[in-house]
Amino acid sequence: MKIVVIGGTGLIGSKLVTKLGEHGHEAVAASPNTGVNTLTGEGLAEVLAGASTVIDVSNSPSFERAAVMEFFTTSTRNLLAAESAAGVGHHVALSVVGTERLPENDYFAAKIAQEQLIEKSSIPFSLVHATQFFEFIRGIADQSTVDGKVHIAPVLFQPMAGDDVAQAVGRVAVGSPLNGRVEVGGPEQFRMDEFFREALAAWGDPREVVTDPQARYFGSVPSERTLVPGDGATLGQIRYRDWLSQNAAGK
Ligand SMILES: NC(=O)c1ccc[n+]([C@@H]2O[C@H](COP(=O)([O-])OP(=O)(O)OC[C@H]3O[C@@H](n4cnc5c(N)ncnc54)[C@H](OP(=O)(O)O)[C@@H]3O)[C@@H](O)[C@H]2O)c1
Repeated sequence: MKIVVIGGTGLIGSKLVTKLGEHGHEAVAASPNTGVNTLTGEGLAEVLAGASTVIDVSNSPSFERAAVMEFFTTSTRNLLAAESAAGVGHHVALSVVGTERLPENDYFAAKIAQEQLIEKSSIPFSLVHATQFFEFIRGIADQSTVDGKVHIAPVLFQPMAGDDVAQAVGRVAVGSPLNGRVEVGGPEQFRMDEFFREALAAWGDPREVVTDPQARYFGSVPSERTLVPGDGATLGQIRYRDWLSQNAAGK
């Protein structure tokens, strides 16, 4: 089966292309680096020819409010139109657990707009909502740093490894369209402030982690369950400590 992975050169996309290939699928990475641009339409018709399924794991180069909204709406419109013309039978997109619970968050608002375009389109679809990737934890700490201290709210947090995300997305992509969503999360749930305190200690990062109920997560204040999946979510297998010991890049 030919599966086109939009954003197939990125963190999750490259893992997906490898895993799908190992399972005998013709997985094609599509991104500006391979001559396919969903914002301009360049290369889209050519790469989609003969594809049964498209997985969109692209990401916006900018998280600024207007830029991220423009990225996800324009790219999704262009992609869905090209898929319709090519007769693609399944559109799979990766989103974030809790988007609907934090609509005032600039990034989440853009992901909600992306999902609404997919739900409204005539193409059968599956949406996978994942929690924060382990690979993204360092970025959250940096973004939460104020005057040298990392401010984190004491809310629930259930991050997961990029490998587990790619596995879950791949499984959904080779199945029948859900015309709905599934949630995936990590194998362990933490208090976010405690998780970051332990993680920074494990990296040997000297920054203090301040428990701050008003701490912002990329501009908005999450509540107790904003970032964690509901009952029935698929859980990954890789634990943070095991991942950290095998990934020098996470330190
Ligand atoms: N970070 C998290 O914790 C988290 C949690 C849940 C869900 N997600 C979702 O996961 C998805 C993938 O994230 P990621 O970290 O794997 O992304 P990433 O590593 O930043 O990769 C982004 C990909 O998008 C491609 N891209 C950028 N502009 C494009 C364009 N105009 N046309 C086509 N492709 C374009 C890039 O291509 P080039 O390499 O050619 O530039 C790259 O392959 C995102 O949609 C995000 O919302 C993230």
